[in-house]
Amino acid sequence: MCGIIARVGDGDAIRKLVSGLENLEYRGYDSAGVAVQNGSGISVYKRSGQVSELKDALVGSVPNGKVGIGHTRWSTHGPPTDENAHPHTSQTDEVAVVHNGIIENYAELKATLSDAGHEFTSDTDTEVIPHLFEYYLEDADDIAEAFRKTVRDLEGSYAVAALVDDVHAIYAARQGSPLILGLDDDEYYLASDVPAFLDHTDDVVYLEDGDVVVVEPNGVTLTDLAGARIDRDVERVDWDPEEAGKGEYDHYMLKEIHTQPNALSNTIEGRIQGDEVHLESFPEGTFDDVEDVHLVACGTSYHAAMYCQQQLADAGIRAQAYRASEYVDANPGPVSGETLVVAVTQSGETADTLGALRQAKEAGAQVVTVTNVVGSTAARTADEALFIRAGPEIGVAATKTFSSQAVTLSLLAIRLAEDVPGASPPDDVATLLDDVYDLPEHVDNVLKTSDARAIAESYIDSQSYFFIGRGLNNAVAKEGALKFKEITYEHAEGFASGELKHGPLALVTPDTPVFTLFDGAGDGKTLKNAEEAQARGAPIVAVASEDHSGVDVADDHLAIPDTHPVWAGLLANVQLQLVSYHAAQLLGRPIDKPRNLAKSVTVE
Ligand code: F6R
Repeated sequence: MCGIIARVGDGDAIRKLVSGLENLEYRGYDSAGVAVQNGSGISVYKRSGQVSELKDALVGSVPNGKVGIGHTRWSTHGPPTDENAHPHTSQTDEVAVVHNGIIENYAELKATLSDAGHEFTSDTDTEVIPHLFEYYLEDADDIAEAFRKTVRDLEGSYAVAALVDDVHAIYAARQGSPLILGLDDDEYYLASDVPAFLDHTDDVVYLEDGDVVVVEPNGVTLTDLAGARIDRDVERVDWDPEEAGKGEYDHYMLKEIHTQPNALSNTIEGRIQGDEVHLESFPEGTFDDVEDVHLVACGTSYHAAMYCQQQLADAGIRAQAYRASEYVDANPGPVSGETLVVAVTQSGETADTLGALRQAKEAGAQVVTVTNVVGSTAARTADEALFIRAGPEIGVAATKTFSSQAVTLSLLAIRLAEDVPGASPPDDVATLLDDVYDLPEHVDNVLKTSDARAIAESYIDSQSYFFIGRGLNNAVAKEGALKFKEITYEHAEGFASGELKHGPLALVTPDTPVFTLFDGAGDGKTLKNAEEAQARGAPIVAVASEDHSGVDVADDHLAIPDTHPVWAGLLANVQLQLVSYHAAQLLGRPIDKPRNLAKSVTVE
């Protein structure tokens, strides 16, 4: 995890580095730091805590410098202290480095360097990098070659950027962690993600694993690890900086919940014609030879994958959703050229998902990713990418991207059902596709009329929160619980409603509200399961349409508009997002930055 940024250009770097770090904070917020090169040494400022604390520390003592690096950390080696904050420096402070990733052989490197007289001041794996770079600089004629030597010695994953005293340049490299070059007229940026420099430029180069880049005021030199020159295309990103800000909302999460109608309209646009699905890279016949489908994903994306698995199974396609972290270790069964592996990942940078994707590719499967980020590692590693078009999501808790993933995957399921031999789309596919057009409006309606705040207030002192649903709503129940625990820190679990009586019912008391999701498919059984919990004292909150029979039985109700069962779960999910948000707010939690978490999980 972690976010890194570097900047070379005219004028002062520090303000731009700090504002870039603010836009990268979703990647980690345990500590933050910057270093600038100003002709009289390298000045390093770093603090444990959020970027705001670094900002406070810089007031009144802002160092000058046109060239600089910055970092916001999600701890892997060593606690979040000032000492462990990046940038890290070398023995004589000649070199400063920021790093995202994990250096697996840091213990060996540290031992060798310690034998050579180097002393270390932090618990981090990163600190070996500036020491090693300085070690190679000792007898180097060429700084870039000393940097490449350093990088060649590193095992593990890294996006790394380094400053050398008195040299107006940034030395950077990428292996397994994202690094993007931003090109403006008179300045250059390097960062873990585009929002870090989107205020300045939208012309980018997505660096590849093994790339080494030297950025100087008058240009950029890109090579491989051996020093051979390489070229990469400049691409234009179409994210609006406005879109990446918080706007009128108190939190990114609330903004992202409220912009779901727009995100969903973008997701759907141009992808449905009559009762047919048209997905840009997948014309009719693309999946003619597919025999089975593996979906690999983590967290919220895994719940979207479950949503798709159910629809594929209903269409008669052999399909299984796997947690990506398990897929790489467990034997997922035979994978062949007829297996389609769909890696679902909002960020496109989740290490577990990338591991599964690469493993599937090596095994000869056809690999597609469903992602939000154009230019992400997943998009560039898979054979094809299908974009969910949700726009940037900054809040650590995924909200709008779940909705857009679920819709994109539902459309992909129909596309597959049209091609895969022996499969067929649902009989009511025309109604289903017709109803998806209404989804943005229905979400808008939920947002305008939701009683989620009052429900959150009623149950705020509960001991535990349960979410139950059947079929597609099993995935939504699990997603509702994940969101709730993630941002409120309260205990929450999501269950397939029929499973409650096989064990979890023992936990049910009057202090465990059971949010029960009804979507018009298999609701009779779900209602019985809710009644079983109610008979043991649990209050039931029905998430259902106004005239649903479950509403009469339930103690409370969160209303969703009437729609096709495939979309009903997504409306229920919006209600649950709002309940989580309001509960977290009532409890005074840091909603956009829940403790111990980060948005992009680039470690396994
Ligand atoms: C939960 C959440 C995480 C992510 C998971 C996968 O709100 O955001 O569970 O869904 O870390 O991330 P991506 O989709 O980027 O692969």
